[in-house]
Amino acid sequence: MLVHIPNLLTAEEVAHCRRVLEAAEWVDGKVTAGEQSGKAKHNLQVPEGSPQSRELGDIVLQALGRNPLFTTAALPLRVFPPLFNRYDVGMQFHAHVDNAIRFLPGARQRIRTDVSSTLFLTPPEAYDGGELVIEDTYGAQTVKLPAGDMVLYPATSLHRVEPVTRGSRWASFFWTQSMVKDDGRRRLLYELDMSIMRTRADLPDHHPGVLGLTATYHNLLRQWVEM
Ligand code: NI
Repeated sequence: MLVHIPNLLTAEEVAHCRRVLEAAEWVDGKVTAGEQSGKAKHNLQVPEGSPQSRELGDIVLQALGRNPLFTTAALPLRVFPPLFNRYDVGMQFHAHVDNAIRFLPGARQRIRTDVSSTLFLTPPEAYDGGELVIEDTYGAQTVKLPAGDMVLYPATSLHRVEPVTRGSRWASFFWTQSMVKDDGRRRLLYELDMSIMRTRADLPDHHPGVLGLTATYHNLLRQWVEM
């Protein structure tokens, strides 16, 4: 399931991120890749744990915290600190699957990567190529979003970033360990929650139908959540 989250960051936050990134040090993106995906990865990254990636990562985490769509789609348990990358002309990331386990920097904690997210920081008209292509249950989906928008998708999916042929594509990316690890179950919960919200827009909250659906949502969640 791919979920598009519009305007995760405001225009001011995007502008601030871009100003900070302009002054940041960029290193070869292979530093956070596994052995196999390292060979597929040709991009630049701000070092993990650098002051810039911490400051901007906190801005992204705060934005996630105030976004109900992210919460209902990802059902987050832990979020890996956001990282920042760029693809200049000629750079790309061949098809790969993200590592299943990641170590939280500085902590002896691991997270299971259930959900992958890409937050776009460059307007689409400022570069050619650079599409994120995700192999979903329904075939390949091509994603190129306005700056400030984010896509989240199951970390189990094969995905790639097409070569950039003009300009430069900047983005933030990170992983989430979900309270519901199975993508099919997360999808059902997400669809049920969205239907409940649409129904609540037309019916009073105490309507028996709304009450029943809300109870079913929470009871399914209780069955499937792991913490
Ligand atoms: Ni990836």
